Amino acid sequence: MQSQSSTSCPSLEGRHILLGITGSIAAYKSAVLCRLLKKAGAEVQVVMTPLAKQFITPLTMATLSKNPILVEFFDPENGAWNSHVSLGEWADCMLIAPATANTLGKMCAGMADNLLLTSYLSARCPVVVAPAMDLDMYRHYTTQRNLDDLRQHGVHVVEPEDGELASGLVGKGRMAEPEEIAAYVGHLLCEKKKTLSGKHFMVTAGATIEPIDPVRFISNHSSGKMGYAIAGELAQRGARVTLVSGRTALPCPEGVQRVDVLSAEEMYTAAVAAFREADGAVMCAAVADYTPTTVAEHKLKKGDGEMTIPLKRTRDIAAALGSEKGHRLMVGFALETDNERVNATEKLHKKNFDFVVLNSLRDAGAGFRGDTNKVTFIDCQAREELPLMPKTEVAQKIVDKIESIIK
Ligand code: PMT
Repeated sequence: MQSQSSTSCPSLEGRHILLGITGSIAAYKSAVLCRLLKKAGAEVQVVMTPLAKQFITPLTMATLSKNPILVEFFDPENGAWNSHVSLGEWADCMLIAPATANTLGKMCAGMADNLLLTSYLSARCPVVVAPAMDLDMYRHYTTQRNLDDLRQHGVHVVEPEDGELASGLVGKGRMAEPEEIAAYVGHLLCEKKKTLSGKHFMVTAGATIEPIDPVRFISNHSSGKMGYAIAGELAQRGARVTLVSGRTALPCPEGVQRVDVLSAEEMYTAAVAAFREADGAVMCAAVADYTPTTVAEHKLKKGDGEMTIPLKRTRDIAAALGSEKGHRLMVGFALETDNERVNATEKLHKKNFDFVVLNSLRDAGAGFRGDTNKVTFIDCQAREELPLMPKTEVAQKIVDKIESIIK
């Protein structure tokens, strides 16, 4: 699933969204959310709990959704039955925003005392909740336990934000912004076209670790996020992906085969083996350029004076693969701190890359660890500078460019 920070909503043309609104002051944001879903092309049916009507009028929601609002099981005037079963079948996604602590608790307990809850119990589609409540209610162990329980049963949770709450208190509990929620639903429902099926890519990611002794090592700040996002994007588009990964705390993206390595030498061996069968490679790992000449068998003892650790060069994996890539595609990265374009262009030629993704530590939000990156694509003909964006979106742009080259 995409990161929560991506706020552009893909097309929801023809998709059916059952928008559940519960009794929270954040219900005023549901109006904007409904508009965004409609604007993205979705058909929206709103179901409200009786209490939600105190916070936002059915007239407002009916006008925006262009559908009558559903609250009761049946219309007392004419006995018309609102079937939760057909609502559950109709929906491509049930989105409950805002979701109060009360409704979350009832969802976990399997309670069915209003139309929204019966629809939830009947829903066959993905369910997304956007909690909204006061900070103490949110951090209460019962709320957290309920959210964990829902997550474990496949319910998607769009985390609330930290900030000023209606009570005047400040903390986590404010419903996520409608743009973020709509984007979450959009990404959840957008089935990627399998444009890369039949292709096999090798991706390197994360940091290598060069041991000094049994206790210490030389490494860098790479979290693996950028490389993992690329591996995930390639897999979503149908490619077979071998991810040669240095140490990270990230889960393996769905559909990706991961090979875990530690040192630059281990990464070299795994990457060379994977590249033999691959149609292309993306070299995103931050690989140590030097490693200690010897690894001490025992923990090095401190002395009074300075210490010097002799280092030797590691093998350049990208250069080695680049020298025998033939017609295969190779994408490289360049992480720079100065003279960025000149250094990146040098790497493009030296390592025989088709294009280089330049990121500079001089740009705020770019490079290591964060969820965003700011990159420039450099190939033999041109340069394309992209704005700061989530790493998941940078990954999409990189894979778009890969597709445009190999098609
Ligand atoms: O993992 P994150 O926290 O998300 O951070 C992402 C990142 C900053 C690590 C990533 O965007 C990035 O820039 N990766 C490449 C980092 C790097 O080592 O760049 P470099 O300029 O030193 O190396 C140039 C290229 O050669 C890279 O494709 C690198 O993978 C490759 N290389 C370098 C040395 C070596 N021995 N073998 C290699 O294959």
